Amino acid sequence: MAETVLVTGGMGYIGSHTTVEFLNKGYNVIIVDNLGNSSIEVLDGIYKICGQKPVFYNVDVTNYQQLSSVFKSHPEINSVIHFAAWKAVGESVEQPLKYYNNNLGGMSNLLQVMQENGCQNLVFSSSCTVYGQPDVLPVTEQAPIKEALSPYGFTKQVCETMIKDVIASNMSVRAIALRYFNPIGAHKSAEIGELPNGVPNNLIPFVTQTAYGIRKELMIFGDDYNTPDGTAVRDYIHVTDLALAHIAAIERLIESRNANDFEVFNVGTGTGNSVLEIVKTFEQVTAQKLNYKIVGRRAGDIEQVWADTAVAERELNWTAKLSLADSLESAWKWENNYRKNIEK
Ligand code: NAD
Ligand code: WQD
Repeated sequence: MAETVLVTGGMGYIGSHTTVEFLNKGYNVIIVDNLGNSSIEVLDGIYKICGQKPVFYNVDVTNYQQLSSVFKSHPEINSVIHFAAWKAVGESVEQPLKYYNNNLGGMSNLLQVMQENGCQNLVFSSSCTVYGQPDVLPVTEQAPIKEALSPYGFTKQVCETMIKDVIASNMSVRAIALRYFNPIGAHKSAEIGELPNGVPNNLIPFVTQTAYGIRKELMIFGDDYNTPDGTAVRDYIHVTDLALAHIAAIERLIESRNANDFEVFNVGTGTGNSVLEIVKTFEQVTAQKLNYKIVGRRAGDIEQVWADTAVAERELNWTAKLSLADSLESAWKWENNYRKNIEK
C-alpha cells in the first residue's frame, strides 16, 4: 500500500514542488491549504506535471473542526509536512499578531489533531533565519539560536520549541525540522513556481520581474558588507532539491531511522553567493541584461550566511544537485511562462 502524506500549505511555492516529487514517487498526497497565499490553478500545474492531482481540502490549519475532520476522513494519514504559514518578514513586523495567530496557532492545532488521531511523523518547515547572523560560517545545526530579527523569525523558533515540548511530554510524535536556506527557482516544466503578491521582497522574483520589464531596476541593498564584492551573501537552493529533502526526511521517519524523536537539519547547498554573483549568473544563463543600481542596506538584513550540510548529507543521504545556473534559468522560464498565461 502506498503511504499517504498530508501536506499543509501544499498549494504554495515549496509545498507544490514537494507535492510533485511525492506524487512522482508513488505516494498519495492530501493537501490542506486555505489559499491565503496561493491559487487553485496550482492543481492544474501539478496535474500537467504528474498526470494526477492530489486530494485537496480548502481548510485553515488554525481551525480545529476543519483539520480534525480531514484526519477523521483519512485515517491512513501517518505523516505530515507542515508548510502552512505566513512568510513575509516585513509584514510580520507591521502585523505581528497576524503571524503569531497563524503560524503558532496552526502549529499548535496541528500537533493537537495529530495527537488525537495517533499520527506519528512530522516534518516542519523551519528556516536559517533562526541563526540570525551566525558567528561561524558555514553555519552548523549546533550554532546558537540568536534573538529573532522579526516576528516571522520568532515564529520559526517557537514552532521548533513547541514540537520539542510536546515530544518531551510523551506525545508519540517524532519530528524533523528542516532549516531551509534561500529557496529559489521553479519546476523544470515551468508549470509551477513562486507567485509573489505585489512587489516582491525576495531577490529572485525581483530579478526576473525586472528582466521581464515589470520593474524598472533591481535595487541591490548594500555593497559595503564585509564580503568579497561587498554585497550580501546567501545560500540559494533550488526548490526541487529542497522538495527532495522532504522525501528523505519523511522516509527516515517512516522507516524509523531517526536517531532522536526531534531532529534538525540544514537544507542548503553549502555555497554562499553574493547578490552581484546572482546578477552576473542570471545575465549569463538567460542572455538578459539586468538594470540595477546599488542603494543602501535593507534594515534587518544579515551580512552573510551559508549552510554546513554535512549532517543532512550523512543522515538524510541527501545533497543539493542543481546549480545556481539551473535555478536561475528555471526561475526565468517560469516568469516567462506565467506572464504569457496571464497576458492571454
Ligand atoms: P507560500 O506562502 O508560497 O506557501 C504557504 C502556503 O500555506 C500557501 O499556499 C498559503 O495559502 C498556505 N497557508 C498559510 N496559512 C494557512 C493556514 N492557516 N491554513 C492553511 N493554509 C495556509 O510559502 P513557501 O515559500 O512555500 O513557504 C512554505 C513554508 O516554508 C513556510 O512555513 C515558510 O515559512 C517556510 N520557509 C520558506 C522560505 C522561503 O524563502 N520561501 C524559507 C524558509 C522557510
Ligand atoms: C536575499 C539577498 C537582500 C531583494 C528571506 C527571509 C528568510 C528566508 C528567506 C523564510 C539579501 C538582497 C533582495 C532586492 C536585494 N525566508 N536583495 N534587492 O532576506 O536572505 O531571506 O527569505 O524563512 O527568513 O528573511 O532573502 O531574497 O529577500 O534577499 O539586494 O530587491 O538579496 O538584501 O542580501 P533573505 P531575500
